Amino acid sequence: MSSHGPATPMSAHKSSGLSGEAHVPGDKSISHRSLIFGAMAVGETRVTGLLEGQDVLDTAKAMRSFGADVEKQGDTWVVQGVGVGGFAEPDHVIDCGNSGTGVRLIMGAMATCPIAATFTGDASLNKRPMARVTDPLALFGARSYGRSGGRLPMTIIGAENPVPVTYTTPVPSAQVKSAVLLAGLNAPGQTVVIEREATRDHSERMLAGFGAQIVTEDTDEGHVITLTGQPELKPQTIIVPRDPSSAAFPVCAALITEGSDVLVPNIGLNPTRAGLFYTLQDMGADLTFENMREEGGEPVADLRAKYSPDLKGIEVPAERAASMIDEYPVLSVVAAFAEGKTHMPGVKELRVKESDRIDAMATGLRAAGVDVDEGEDWWTVHGRGFGDVAGGVTVKTHLDHRIAMSFLVMGFATNAPMTVDDSGPISTSFPIFENLMTQLGAKLTQ
Ligand code: S3P
Repeated sequence: MSSHGPATPMSAHKSSGLSGEAHVPGDKSISHRSLIFGAMAVGETRVTGLLEGQDVLDTAKAMRSFGADVEKQGDTWVVQGVGVGGFAEPDHVIDCGNSGTGVRLIMGAMATCPIAATFTGDASLNKRPMARVTDPLALFGARSYGRSGGRLPMTIIGAENPVPVTYTTPVPSAQVKSAVLLAGLNAPGQTVVIEREATRDHSERMLAGFGAQIVTEDTDEGHVITLTGQPELKPQTIIVPRDPSSAAFPVCAALITEGSDVLVPNIGLNPTRAGLFYTLQDMGADLTFENMREEGGEPVADLRAKYSPDLKGIEVPAERAASMIDEYPVLSVVAAFAEGKTHMPGVKELRVKESDRIDAMATGLRAAGVDVDEGEDWWTVHGRGFGDVAGGVTVKTHLDHRIAMSFLVMGFATNAPMTVDDSGPISTSFPIFENLMTQLGAKLTQ
């Protein structure tokens, strides 16, 4: 069931010749941060290209609850920030819907303000671990009271006299890193985050853009990020790049759908996000980066993906996991059509996403005729090659947008259609998915 009304099943049917341009929505990570950082700046931040998915709309609503003014004027989202430490106490529960990024970053942002706030989410979010965020927030002096296992709903009482913190993240998570940095903004002195594996660095880049003093160094301990607290953040004009994690779906659809040639323009290729595309190239995909350029300090390219009948299974380097963590579900679909095994180690974090993504994908792939082996932090897809993946099953979405889109992409190339029990969650990150894929020539039915 979707959290927003009755479940809406959707089926994908064997397709051919996907072609044209796929203009995917704005980056989800950067969209959340634009609104939250804008709310913490003094004055008016203007954002174009914002992802208008439910996750980001829930963050916009939350920022209003903390006292910022957020409204859409024409194509531009305008945020009147209240300044670092300026959050007001919300007078009702903050519902972050399906969004782990939303809730974790906002918890960080309010944890060093002298206010209380209660957070909740949908059935998926209320199962996800929050102690990974509330543990470091306690070091600043914040208190949290949630359900057993550190689950939502949860109340956070922000620190009245926050102290700066040095924290080594125990899991590779940009959400945890960002929560600590946002809390550090309103603590005096220097807050330091150490991460052993580099995760997406949008918070660091954007906070620097907003005028914070933030320095990243590579040391023997790992990636060390030092933030000087209590800056005055300067409002920004932000053009949100298109989301590489959304681009993954039309790209992978083109690779596995006979006769396809699809251009996905203006995709951010920040090295902390682009791992999937290099992995696909390693598998022999006909995927090229055209018109490579730099925009807003980030590498950007137009991706051209063509039907690739000679895909090979590979060993995906564990050290690449953080840079493609959201893309493993759709990679596993591509791997099903490759010759040979694709082994994906170092991916324990997949078990605590919007769903247990290893379990959700393995269950659906097996039902569709594909062998999958799995352990706690790895999985292997035994590719069957083209023309030999049965399909013809209905799979569970588990309130997870990327599971829904991955199995629909799969259905463009399976022998019999693939059906997802609920396509509703797709609207959290890619509300135009059905239209966009249909315009490329893919066959989807409700
Ligand atoms: C995100 C970080 C990742 C990713 C999520 C977005 C972010 O989560 O899966 O979709 O914007 O910081 P983790 O930090 O939990 O790995």
